[in-house]
Amino acid sequence: MEPLTRRNMLRAGGALGALGALSVAAPAQAAWTWSAKGSVAGAGAGADPRWVWDDEADPLVASLIERGDVPRVNALLRTWTKNGQPLPAGLPADLHAFMESARQLPPWADPAKLDLAFDFNEKRGLYLGVLYGLASGMMSTVIPKEARAVYYSQGGADMKDRISKTAKLGYDIGARNAFRPDGEMVVTAVKTRLVHAAVRHLLPQSPHWAGVADEDIPISQRDMMVTWHSLPTTVMRKLRDWEVPIPAAESTAFLHSWQVGAHLLGIRDEYIPATWAEADAQADQVLTPILARTPEGVKLADILLKLGTPIDAGILSKPILGAFTRFMLGDEIAQWLEIPREPVWDPLLRTAWGPFVAVREGLLPFPLAPKAYWLFDEFLRKAALLFLSEARPIRIEIPLTNRPE
Ligand code: HEM
Repeated sequence: MEPLTRRNMLRAGGALGALGALSVAAPAQAAWTWSAKGSVAGAGAGADPRWVWDDEADPLVASLIERGDVPRVNALLRTWTKNGQPLPAGLPADLHAFMESARQLPPWADPAKLDLAFDFNEKRGLYLGVLYGLASGMMSTVIPKEARAVYYSQGGADMKDRISKTAKLGYDIGARNAFRPDGEMVVTAVKTRLVHAAVRHLLPQSPHWAGVADEDIPISQRDMMVTWHSLPTTVMRKLRDWEVPIPAAESTAFLHSWQVGAHLLGIRDEYIPATWAEADAQADQVLTPILARTPEGVKLADILLKLGTPIDAGILSKPILGAFTRFMLGDEIAQWLEIPREPVWDPLLRTAWGPFVAVREGLLPFPLAPKAYWLFDEFLRKAALLFLSEARPIRIEIPLTNRPE
């Protein structure tokens, strides 16, 4: 249950309303009982990350906005694209100092695991593209706090642009040398950390967001972990469901790349799960129970499903993307998102996906593979491309406003 914020109380209109607010609050957030012993830090104070944001970045970025430094900073940061590149000259001293520290890999980062993660990403690129786009991406629309934050922030007005920026993160984390000097993931993560800090400052000023949000400041560390689970944890769960054979070392390496990613996004080590078992336990507590329908999420999902419209007038892409969403996230979520049933694609995915994966993985003898299974490959590439082809040129920049009126 959300603690009753001052604004909730006011909105609910006094004591009677407060009682009502208590009984109708959005899906309850379970108490935080996940132990920091299971984290990459191995220990921690155990504070509920619901009430932790980003102590370093938040006041700094709020001050950049207030000082009018953001346009200059954004222009300078456009030239900063590679992990190993020095920060551009001319950044405000406080920002420079913060970014120098924020760009450091954690001491527990393991280069050998990060290299192995690339092998995994390369081998599983097809599945990963589809899963990031359609399982993680669509799941974000049924994470109420995220859906509201995205919808009412500047990026919510241009989802094509927004999705391309998120796709860049998915691409950068899976690229060769992602975290090495010639890679880009450190840059992307640190810039994203600045964007999130800006959103924490800006969104509370949006009357639209404030009118529907059940919190005063968005993007807590707990929310960050919820979204994190919609990415690697959800992807790994699906790959396991589909019985894709993954060597243990590769699975650990994939997790590791996302642990390092989480650290660079400003998530505290004490909240980052050390193992898949710990990740699953944390996701069961923080992700699964909070999934719910919001009007903002329904609108965002509709925009996402229509992203292919300029290419094929939505004739093929929308039904396929809808059917994939239903297949991956289930009937209940599809219903929340008002995704219609697809008489051709729904049954095809249900019956043919398992054998398709098996064939791809070489578990079934090749000559027995009906030709139709191979068609999936082509459709999948198209579906993934719909999300990823928008990905250029992509600049992650500190926003100065919320969603325009
Ligand atoms: C911006 C990724 C968690 C809300 C971004 C951007 C990326 C990103 C790459 C930059 C794109 C842009 O500038 O539009 C992530 C990742 C997360 C995470 C990997 C967790 C592991 C969250 C959470 C929320 C959130 C928990 C809200 C509850 C936003 C918003 C923006 C943003 C509102 C700015 C959109 C805009 O106005 O442009 N995020 N995010 N993010 N994120 Fe996140």
